[in-house]
Amino acid sequence: MPRITYTTFDGTRHTVDVPVGTTLMEAATNHSVPGIDGDCGGQCACATCHVYIDEPWSALTGERSEAEEDMLNFAEDFRPTSRLGCQVRVTEAMDGLEVALPEGQH
Ligand code: FES
Repeated sequence: MPRITYTTFDGTRHTVDVPVGTTLMEAATNHSVPGIDGDCGGQCACATCHVYIDEPWSALTGERSEAEEDMLNFAEDFRPTSRLGCQVRVTEAMDGLEVALPEGQH
């Protein structure tokens, strides 16, 4: 099972085992990782699942969709590496994935 690490803005690391097919938002909320609320239930409508995924992992997580891009325009602390956790589905290849959380989410 892929192992994903979420690092909050203060540097606290939360490592969880995530079944393939789960989104990064679902995995975080299932494990009570602080800073990811998923208020809209994964409908790409709230941006409370905002995360940063840097290289080399971004190559595995793919590109933002247009709807995701639109939603992220409303998110604080937007960066080129910003993603919505509910729009990234975990694959076997993502074992070891590092996800960082924005300052405003804790
Ligand atoms: Fe609402 Fe991701 S959970 S946009």
